[in-house]
Amino acid sequence: MISTTYSFPPRPVTPLGILAEKLEQAVHLIEKTEIPIEISDLIDQAYQLAAGLDPYLEHATTQESAALALLAKKTRQEPWNQRFSDGETIRHLEQEMLSGHIEGQTLKLLVQMMGARRVLEIGLFTGYSALAIAEGLPIDGELIACEVDEYVAKFALNCFAISPHGEKIIVKVAPALVTMSYLAELGEQFDFVFIDADKKEYIEYFNRLLESNLLMPNAVICVDNTLFQGQPYLPAEYQTENGRAIAKFNQVVANDPRVEQVLLPLRDGLTLIRCL
Ligand SMILES: C[S@@+](CC[C@H](N)C(=O)[O-])C[C@H]1O[C@@H](n2cnc3c(N)ncnc32)[C@H](O)[C@@H]1O
Repeated sequence: MISTTYSFPPRPVTPLGILAEKLEQAVHLIEKTEIPIEISDLIDQAYQLAAGLDPYLEHATTQESAALALLAKKTRQEPWNQRFSDGETIRHLEQEMLSGHIEGQTLKLLVQMMGARRVLEIGLFTGYSALAIAEGLPIDGELIACEVDEYVAKFALNCFAISPHGEKIIVKVAPALVTMSYLAELGEQFDFVFIDADKKEYIEYFNRLLESNLLMPNAVICVDNTLFQGQPYLPAEYQTENGRAIAKFNQVVANDPRVEQVLLPLRDGLTLIRCL
């Protein structure tokens, strides 16, 4: 019987993943070349250091819940390219957008340690980070997720239905800046915000949060992909439009006297920001 399941491993999209892939290519090239053993040993050690870190983090971190594991599996099995090359939409979605186990567990622990009750997520995709955060919220906690794409919003809601924590999540399907204006008009406030949508709008999300009374006192803003595959610190010829947008965002935050922040080298970069 022919299997119709569509699943392949995600391509590397973090500085570490890309580094490990390049070192693996170097190791294979070296096998076919006459070079001093000291050099090939050094490259092999560098490859093992880089390639072993992510699997070790997975091993040493609390396992994800069954609901999160299923959500990640369904996301891997979805034929994103087929759906988005049908001419009906120009949106570019891919399985690599999913944040995953280590980042999900980090976000869950952060909200638990803060005692956060009200969370705003900007960029839902299939819902991995939203559900991980919801697992860390109290029973009366609430997460409002902004997502512009109706198909992934429905996909996420179907996944949430199998978790008792899914009930804490409300999805708003609209451009995030529109939803943020609407929430600000209603006087809604949040003690934790996770930014993970359009990289070119990151500065607007950040300023809107600080200037629209959307944040409770002592709120924390968490921003994903702030290392963007290493592009912010690589030479200009390696930077894409999104990489340049993230470099600019990081500079804006670094220059802003209203906040203090730290950029953690977790996955593709996670910046934690606190208002002063
Ligand atoms: C990187 S994915 C989010 C991944 C998700 N947080 C997770 O951990 O799995 C970015 C999502 O933001 C959505 N998005 C992009 N631009 C947006 C916008 N202007 N408003 C709302 N959502 C947007 C995309 O459709 C996509 O689903």
